[in-house]
Amino acid sequence: MTKTLQNFALGILIAGILTSCSNNGTNKNESSDSTKTTTTTTTTMKTGIQQSDWGESDGKKVYLYTLTNKNGAQVKISNYGGTITSWVTPDSKGNKSSIVLGFNELKGYLAHPPYFGATIGRYGNRIAKGRFTLNGKTYKLAVNNNANALHGGLKGFDKVVWDAAPLADNTPALTLNYLSKDGEEGYPGNLKVSVKFSLSDDDELKLEYNAETDKATPVNLTNHSYFNLTGDVSNTILNHVLMIDADKYTPVDTGLIPTGELKPVKGTPFDFTTPHKIGERIGQVPGGYDHNFVLNKKGTDLDKVAEVTDSISGRKMEVYTTQPGLQFYSGNFLDGSIKTDDGKPIQQHAALCLETQHFPDSPNQPSFPSTILKPGEKYHTVTMYKVSVK
Ligand code: GLA
Repeated sequence: MTKTLQNFALGILIAGILTSCSNNGTNKNESSDSTKTTTTTTTTMKTGIQQSDWGESDGKKVYLYTLTNKNGAQVKISNYGGTITSWVTPDSKGNKSSIVLGFNELKGYLAHPPYFGATIGRYGNRIAKGRFTLNGKTYKLAVNNNANALHGGLKGFDKVVWDAAPLADNTPALTLNYLSKDGEEGYPGNLKVSVKFSLSDDDELKLEYNAETDKATPVNLTNHSYFNLTGDVSNTILNHVLMIDADKYTPVDTGLIPTGELKPVKGTPFDFTTPHKIGERIGQVPGGYDHNFVLNKKGTDLDKVAEVTDSISGRKMEVYTTQPGLQFYSGNFLDGSIKTDDGKPIQQHAALCLETQHFPDSPNQPSFPSTILKPGEKYHTVTMYKVSVK
């Protein structure tokens, strides 16, 4: 950076700090006119967080937050659904583009795309027949995927408006809070949830989930970002090379419900213990990849569990988590019916998801690690996606 630019950046930083002091710590850099809807075209490069008005849902104000790090990488997150709408990073030639599927405007999300970038809860993935028994009582959940409950039900955490904690102006981090009431979507207990998103100067996007309940309940929180490391959905992810540190996976029935078995990946198209192109063996997997991998990691340290590379952009993404499972979904249900903001159809396999999680249907699978959170316990998990270029 030149001296002049440095001074300019410093000036902006000081102005930002002054602004935040004069409005009680919240950083409303945008007009306070609530009818104004700003889009993601914000070009500020100031390190930290910026808040823009983004519309309204359920009578609540929706905002878009832009996290910018020292390198100018930007992650945008909305309090609608705790949704990551964009993650702009440079490719190996320095050209910037977003590596996640998302829209510039709230209306794209109000049309309910399949969980693009969203925070998923109260229970990520499927619970068979939308029911489970806990402490002798059978709970019936909202059913939204054939006969099953998927990703929290009809109105999961991806479709509610979260509350942002006060922002620290010059730190690229955002904490969103949500109270899921007792009985919401059929789940027992008032569940207080918070997710902290932070972007480091090493281009690591860290997601920290915390929750507490007043009645025993299943909890399985994750993020449903769809990645395409080329930054252009005209390229599918079939040429992305994937490694998953998992010797086993959980096979599923035709309704995508785990059979309960932990099956070795060795000798199957699910063996990503060494890197493989996603397209190499996908034809041998009916419907494409949509499976939970049983991670080799032991314990709850933040360990590296997966890596994706793309030769077109030279980008690499590493996935770290404290969780025991990873849902690898190869965008099988995308069918071109949803279009990007610039009108490109989002085709099958236009993006992939690596959803860190507990195993699907755990409340009905006694041999799987438990997902039950009890009163007095603290749910805490961390997942980190790190992007770099070759
Ligand atoms: C998850 C599921 C998939 C699908 C997508 C959303 O990854 O495992 O089967 O429902 O979400 O379309």
